[in-house]
Amino acid sequence: MSGSVLSGINPDTPNVARMYDYYLGGRDNFASDRAAAERMIALGRQMGNDARELARANRAFLGRAVHGLAASGVRQFLDIGAGLPTRDNVHQVAKRHATGVRVAYVDNDPVVLNHARALLARDSDVITVEGDVRDTDAIFDDLDITLHLDFTRPIAVLLVAILHFIPDDDEAAGIVARVKKRLRPGDHLVLSHVAAGNTTQRDAWEGQRVYSATTAGGIAHRGYADISKYFDGLELLSPGLVPVADWKQGVPLPPDTDFDRPGILAAVARVPG
Ligand SMILES: C[S@@+](CC[C@H](N)C(=O)[O-])C[C@H]1O[C@@H](n2cnc3c(N)ncnc32)[C@H](O)[C@@H]1O
Repeated sequence: MSGSVLSGINPDTPNVARMYDYYLGGRDNFASDRAAAERMIALGRQMGNDARELARANRAFLGRAVHGLAASGVRQFLDIGAGLPTRDNVHQVAKRHATGVRVAYVDNDPVVLNHARALLARDSDVITVEGDVRDTDAIFDDLDITLHLDFTRPIAVLLVAILHFIPDDDEAAGIVARVKKRLRPGDHLVLSHVAAGNTTQRDAWEGQRVYSATTAGGIAHRGYADISKYFDGLELLSPGLVPVADWKQGVPLPPDTDFDRPGILAAVARVPG
C-alpha cells in the first residue's frame, strides 16, 4: 500500500492488522509494517518458529472452525478483531457450507474498517462495525449489530488472534468473561492466542519491544494455563486447546504434539445446556 493516506491512518506507525496482512502475503501494508514484521520473522527464526507460517496456520484454523460450525447449523458469526479482508473470510467460508448466513465484522482499526466496508458494501448478509474488544458490552448492544444478528438464535463469537493485544491479564480475562455472559446454551466461542511455550525472557522482551512500537502497544505471551482458563464453564470441542495447526475438529492430536514450542494455541468451545 502506498500513496494516499486515509483519515485516521498513520503509515509510519506499524499496525498489527497490516503486519498480519504482510505475514499472510497480502499487499495492504506500509514500509513501517513490513519492517516490524520482518523483525518478528527474524526473531521467530531464532526461536524455531516461522511467523508467516503461524499466521497462515491461524487463518486456516479460523476457516476450519467456521466450516465446522456452519456444517453443524450455526448461521450467525460475530467476528471481533476481524482483520483486513483476505482470502476465505468468515462469510465466504460459512456461505460455502450453509445458506442464511449472517456475519458482523468488528475491528477498531480504521484501515480494516475502510477496506472491509469498501469490499463488502454489496453483501447485505455482512456488516462491518467499529468497535473495541475492551468494550464488549458496547459491541453486543450496538444498534447495527443487534439489527443484523439475532442473539436469541445460535451464534459463534470469534476472538481469533486478538486477545494477546490486550497486555493486562485481568483485562483480557474480563473481556472473555463478559463475552461468555452474553452467550446462551448452544452458542460457540472460537479463540486463538499467541502462546509463550518455552520462550526465553530475552526473546519475549525482544518481541515486546517490536510490538510496543505498534498500534497495539504491546503483545502478551500467555501460557497454556492462562489461555485454558478462558474456556472455564464451556465445553471444548475435540481436540481441545491445541497448537493452532493441529486443531482439526474431532481429529486426535498427533502423539508428538509439542506444547512447549512458542506459537499460537486455539480452540472452539460450546456453551453447555
Ligand atoms: C492479527 S489480526 C487477526 C485477524 C483475524 N481475527 C484472524 O485471526 O485472521 C488482529 C486484529 O485485531 C484487531 N484489534 C487489535 N486490538 C483491537 C481492539 N482493542 N479492538 C478491536 N480490534 C482490535 C486488529 O486491528 C487486527 O485487525
